[in-house]
Amino acid sequence: MDIASSFLGRDIVSMKELSREEIDFILDRATEMEPIADRGSDMLRGRIMATLFFEPSTRTRLSFESAMLRLGGGVIGFAEPGVSSVAKGESLRDTIKTVENYSDIIVIRHYEDGAARVAADAAGIPVINAGSGSLEHPTQALLDLHTIRAAKGRIDGLKVALLGDLLYGRTVHSLLYALSNYDVKVFLVSPERLRFRRDLLKELEGKIEYEEIDDLYRCLEEIDVLYVTRIQKERFPDLREYEKLKDSYIITRETLRHAKRDLIIMHPLPRVTEISTDVDDTPNAWYFKQMRHGLYVRMALLSLILGGR
Ligand code: NCD
Repeated sequence: MDIASSFLGRDIVSMKELSREEIDFILDRATEMEPIADRGSDMLRGRIMATLFFEPSTRTRLSFESAMLRLGGGVIGFAEPGVSSVAKGESLRDTIKTVENYSDIIVIRHYEDGAARVAADAAGIPVINAGSGSLEHPTQALLDLHTIRAAKGRIDGLKVALLGDLLYGRTVHSLLYALSNYDVKVFLVSPERLRFRRDLLKELEGKIEYEEIDDLYRCLEEIDVLYVTRIQKERFPDLREYEKLKDSYIITRETLRHAKRDLIIMHPLPRVTEISTDVDDTPNAWYFKQMRHGLYVRMALLSLILGGR
């Protein structure tokens, strides 16, 4: 089976399920989508995507919806479970069994770690994980890689720092799994309390070179990519702890003075205080450009999974 047809009807639940060959294929397809995003296409005419968002989102949901519309398909769904029968106590499984009658693909975001897997198992149509609890956000990792490739021309050989909330942040989980397919060195920069989960890190043993530190300045001079994350307030069992940790890192123009001239700063967004707005108009700031890559990557995934030509 060729690689394109291996994506037909497939679920995208975890970054761990994608090989380097498959990731590179998706990234190449995403690049092909760049001109199509501008001019539009009817590649997926008559196909319907359902977006089921049980948690807040701006970029992920809107870029998925925009991707589907730009490919000529249609979109249904909810951005707030309070308006669906979930509010009446309907289970996730039953919601999925309902929505699969009305759509060809489901994109789901949920506050529980395993929710996307439950949805994929229940559904007779493909399911894409748009963020499940603190565990994974695979399409974000793909757009992160596409951004790195656009900025640096490659992924191999780079030094990357993942900074901030490595415990509760789902984007960094998926991104680290994705990066483990490449020849990179990763610095995991966080306060002790927000370190990457031990069990998850153990799975990556031998697959990726990494170092855990709490002081950004120990790697700042040598890194090519600084991936900043928000401290995930909503996932702290005790808000007093969040208050103590929320300003652990604040990237400013001054920080850049100690970095490589061509360092790129990325962030999945939303940002709170972790990157000062005085960084926004430096050439190092890639977090706004990064969002556009979400559109390309999601167009690529929808066209591959639904078989658009
Ligand atoms: C992230 C998420 O929802 O995990 N946002 C996104 O999808 N771009 C990051 C976050 O909420 O901090």
